[in-house]
Amino acid sequence: MPVEHGVNAVAGPVSRRFEGKVALVAGGGRTPPEAGNGIGVGAATSMLLAREGCRVAVLDRDVDAANRTVKSIAETGGEAIAIQADVSVDADCARAIAEVQDAYGTLHALLNTLGITRSRRSVTQFVDEEWTAIMEVNVRGFMLTAKHAIPLMTEGGAIVNVSSADAVVPSHGNATFAASKGAVNSLTRHIAVREGYRGIRANAIMPGAMWTPIALTKLGTAVGADKKELPEAEREAVRRQRRQITATQTEGTAWDIAHAAAFLASDQSRWITGQVLMVDGGASVIAPWDVQNKPARTVADSTLHFVD
Ligand SMILES: NC(=O)c1ccc[n+]([C@@H]2O[C@H](COP(=O)([O-])OP(=O)(O)OC[C@H]3O[C@@H](n4cnc5c(N)ncnc54)[C@H](O)[C@@H]3O)[C@@H](O)[C@H]2O)c1
Repeated sequence: MPVEHGVNAVAGPVSRRFEGKVALVAGGGRTPPEAGNGIGVGAATSMLLAREGCRVAVLDRDVDAANRTVKSIAETGGEAIAIQADVSVDADCARAIAEVQDAYGTLHALLNTLGITRSRRSVTQFVDEEWTAIMEVNVRGFMLTAKHAIPLMTEGGAIVNVSSADAVVPSHGNATFAASKGAVNSLTRHIAVREGYRGIRANAIMPGAMWTPIALTKLGTAVGADKKELPEAEREAVRRQRRQITATQTEGTAWDIAHAAAFLASDQSRWITGQVLMVDGGASVIAPWDVQNKPARTVADSTLHFVD
């Protein structure tokens, strides 16, 4: 009888498709569940993989956050370890992979799920320090984790990089963030081409605006300004507006990205590589002149169970 994790995953039978596999999830830390501000992509992905039989190394620069995810996994019968590391530091990435090797001896999947942004500055508001900080983590970090992870993928493997819809459908967000995610897409395709001969696949996911802990600060940020938290009273209106811009008129969560990431990390996607998948409720395919014309959603969003 498979373990039912009771997390807010999409309903359905639990498969054990990751039995015997090892994954490293960079940015897998979890904010305190009691904060009630949702769950991040890395934590959701780690929990989902573990639920399906994977041994998971949860890497985060915030070790308390990594330990929270490990605890959530252990509580439901899964196996995981926490690794404190900053992906923008070469030595940290080398040590992280050594820790994976010590614990599990091998690696089958690397999932880079983190990303930072600082403000909603445009090109004309360019700030050097912001460019460096974002590029170091979002691009160099993904390069370094892959650099060290690939040699441990001796049986082949899968790399899943979390990019952003901003890479191809830029919002009024941060110019550097958009550029960094474009670079993530290119890096992913490069890895797919160069490492395919070793049985390594690489794909990226571009999430649209979704409800994760980081969204609380991003949503409250005016164009051109530094990030700030969105006042409680304004949250529901902003979230409603975000639902309305999707084709499905639903808001995405980290679980929507986690399920796509799990598929791309699994052997079920063995012939898919070098792809960049938009996961955004269809927001990016709606013609701008049609956004206001959509009929209201007529069915309940019954496929998602929230318990966090
Ligand atoms: N939330 C959204 O609406 C949205 C939209 C589009 C794309 N994305 C992308 O999705 C991904 C996940 O977003 P999220 O909202 O779940 O993120 P999050 O901020 O909730 O989680 C990111 C985790 O990464 C960790 N982290 C940050 N920098 C790190 C570093 N240098 N080294 C190690 N760990 C580090 C953080 O401590 C945190 O635990 C990111 O790549 C983000 O850019 C998010």
